[in-house]
Amino acid sequence: MSGGVYGGDEVGALVFDVGSHTVRAGYAGEDCPKADFPTAIGVEMIDQMETDGGEVKPEKKLSIDTNKLLYPKKGAEVVNCLEDGMIKDWDTFEALLNHTYKNYIRSDSDLHPVLVTEPAWNSREKREKLAELMFEKYNAPAFFVCKSPVLTAFANGRYTGVILDSGATHTSAVPVHDGFVLQQSFVKSPLAGDFVLMQCREMLKSMNIDVVPHYMVASKEEVKVDAPAKWEKKKNLPEVTESWKRYMLNHTLKDFAASILQVSDTTYNEMECMNMAKVPYYFPNGFNHEFGPERLSVVENLFNPINVRGAAPNSMLGVPHVVTSCINMCDVDIRPGLYNSVIVTGGNTLLQGFTDRLNWELSSKTPPTMRLKVNCTSSSVERKYSPWIGGSILASLGTFQQMWISKLEYEEGGKSCVERKCP
Ligand SMILES: Nc1ncnc2c1ncn2[C@@H]1O[C@H](COP(=O)(O)OP(=O)(O)OP(=O)(O)O)[C@@H](O)[C@H]1O
Ligand SMILES: [Mg+2]
Repeated sequence: MSGGVYGGDEVGALVFDVGSHTVRAGYAGEDCPKADFPTAIGVEMIDQMETDGGEVKPEKKLSIDTNKLLYPKKGAEVVNCLEDGMIKDWDTFEALLNHTYKNYIRSDSDLHPVLVTEPAWNSREKREKLAELMFEKYNAPAFFVCKSPVLTAFANGRYTGVILDSGATHTSAVPVHDGFVLQQSFVKSPLAGDFVLMQCREMLKSMNIDVVPHYMVASKEEVKVDAPAKWEKKKNLPEVTESWKRYMLNHTLKDFAASILQVSDTTYNEMECMNMAKVPYYFPNGFNHEFGPERLSVVENLFNPINVRGAAPNSMLGVPHVVTSCINMCDVDIRPGLYNSVIVTGGNTLLQGFTDRLNWELSSKTPPTMRLKVNCTSSSVERKYSPWIGGSILASLGTFQQMWISKLEYEEGGKSCVERKCP
């Protein structure tokens, strides 16, 4: 048997891009994913009496997707199946896949080939385990796993470039050359979306602004700027866990970050920004404040992390350094091609002013013999979904159909075929 090339023309292939913040999934060939819901899930332990009246056994009850997750439940912990962008908790990951098939794909998993994205640093063991899961549990007719920076490059019509991805848990720069990741030269930093939320929390605390999450507010009255909030707390709120409270607080802070924060055009200078225009923000309990220079100062550490509390010097790279360190780790011959194609992706890059600042920083760091080009689509949808979109393009190409690992091939060759077939 020649390896069982998958015909590919039965029904649409699926593309899964599971990030630490959201799960993106849908049909290959479409413009954007059908599903985009939180990766975090709520887990409640409920005591179940066995049917024969025997023992009482605890059973897990899961809250998946935005609406269920935002509803307060006694004792529900919020968990995330990813760590460092890689799958760590496989049961929770499976729960996300089941939810996607049932509520968004609405079709049987044995009908659709599946392409899954992975970070550049994914381990061999994890990608093999994923193949095993997709073939043995979900009965997928074909499977492929592809590095997300390669897919982001495809989505931007490129085969070569350095992919700067700033998501929730990390910012990374990965060099892609002729469609392959240069495995030895990627650079990562923990300064990303979650870090921005942490900075917001600290700033608001230092300003004595108490952020009350939405779920607590029964009613509120309009009050003047900086006046104490007049609001009523919901009655009979269940006792919720710390992890759930933190999730809800972050939910509010994400909105705050997206609407208020702005990255300074050049290095932040407190004196120069004293008179900048103020922007009001209304918190869920009606309290409102006009934010001025803090809008810039709170995200400065992303680019210039000299003031990160508790961090050892140089232990966390700012965004521009992530890019330049990555390029400098690559062979001199290919550096011009990388400077000429810096591709920006990830939700955190949607912060106002992010790409302008990046451009400014990189311009001053690009060697004079090389030309800098920062590629970033202005569409926020494309910036958020680019690995998924790249997967959608790849999986629907005629020439790709011979690349799938077919079920037969997996059955004959075992899971080690993943290393052989998926670069
Ligand atoms: N408009 C916006 N402005 C500012 N930040 C945003 C905006 N939209 C999303 N974010 C932030 O982007 C982050 C999510 O980005 P993304 O969807 O790329 O992450 P992910 O791929 O799920 O996670 P990771 O790459 O860390 O595994 C979150 O921290 C979110 O708060
Ligand atoms: Mg990501």
